[in-house]
Amino acid sequence: MELTKIQQKMLDGESGEAVAQSMEILVALGKIYGADGMVPVSSAQIAGVSYKTIGQAGLEYLSDLAGKKAKVRIPTFLNPAGMDRDQWQKMGVPADFAKKQIEVLDAFSSMGITMSCTCTPYYIGIRPKVGEHVAWAESSAVSFCNSVLGARTNREGGPSALAAAICGFTPNFGYHLDEKRKCGLLVDVRVPLKTNADFGALGAWAGPLAKHRNPAFIGISKNVSGQLEDRLKALGAAMAASGSVALFNIKGITPEYNVAEDAEKVVFGSEELIASKKSLNSADSPPQLIAIGCPHASLDEIKEVAEKVKGKKMAHKLWVCTARETKKKADKAGYTAIIEAAGGLVVADTCMVVCPLKEAGFGCTATNSGKAGKYLASLQNQKVVYGDVEDILCK
Ligand code: F3S
Repeated sequence: MELTKIQQKMLDGESGEAVAQSMEILVALGKIYGADGMVPVSSAQIAGVSYKTIGQAGLEYLSDLAGKKAKVRIPTFLNPAGMDRDQWQKMGVPADFAKKQIEVLDAFSSMGITMSCTCTPYYIGIRPKVGEHVAWAESSAVSFCNSVLGARTNREGGPSALAAAICGFTPNFGYHLDEKRKCGLLVDVRVPLKTNADFGALGAWAGPLAKHRNPAFIGISKNVSGQLEDRLKALGAAMAASGSVALFNIKGITPEYNVAEDAEKVVFGSEELIASKKSLNSADSPPQLIAIGCPHASLDEIKEVAEKVKGKKMAHKLWVCTARETKKKADKAGYTAIIEAAGGLVVADTCMVVCPLKEAGFGCTATNSGKAGKYLASLQNQKVVYGDVEDILCK
């Protein structure tokens, strides 16, 4: 692996201990994956922010790095944390957890990282251009970035994305290269997909089938109800959670459509749609919480919830998870007030998967997200009700 003179000096410690330590991570990764050198990246998105997922060991790692005066040198953004910084008490988050979470955020902040706390940075103006190299970590954001925006990122781990942010580049392998961006599975979609739950069900079905291959799709119409980007976000997130998909193509929609001649072809029809939705349902009782916004909700999605709950009183708790910047817009548009009047919360900075949900008292959660459907069951030990927004709001 070839390093430039500057990179070699950084590795040798001329820019300080934190930079040298970060370079070591990047060089080790590059050697494992056969990178020829480094590629400059224009932004980084850091996962591993919730104290629930990183624990004490993660906090100590970050505090150590912050103590070594680590600073990011490119625009760098955070994934969701384990709680809403303003409303954690309303969420039922324990005070000792909140204290640790604030320490994690303080460590990131001292490194110069923007406290965006969202998995949808593309909804708050962070939208790399086609072909631009970045180092993003959260799997649904990675999928959106590679597929919908046509930019280039590997599925970084928390430490490698942070190392890229501190050094300004990442090893040149994987999705940074043309050859890794070809699709080896072609899915012929023969059923109309209308809602996020439909797209999530397709993703939950296609993710495991893709295995190590990038999937491509035909038969998906641009003319969906609602915003197309919201639907593509739901599809990519579900494939990333149910498999390890970091890039997909859709004929006529994504900027790239590059399918290998020998790609395997499969069909997704109404039977598969029904079966996939059924497989995401594991509850035999009504939900205690309805959680919408995985990945974080767009303003349109918040508006949709507000329209549906306007003038009603929810029988169960309701959270709509979103980025703080998006919540500000929802506050201004009056959507937050409508949702709160119905007994719900518009929750910023966090989500139903990375907050301490059990400790907050929930055992059964309803969602319209294929990704949350998978992770609520496996990571949060929840019984899951899966369905369209309309259906789950009426449960
Ligand atoms: Fe985002 Fe949390 Fe879902 S980080 S993609 S809302 S699991």
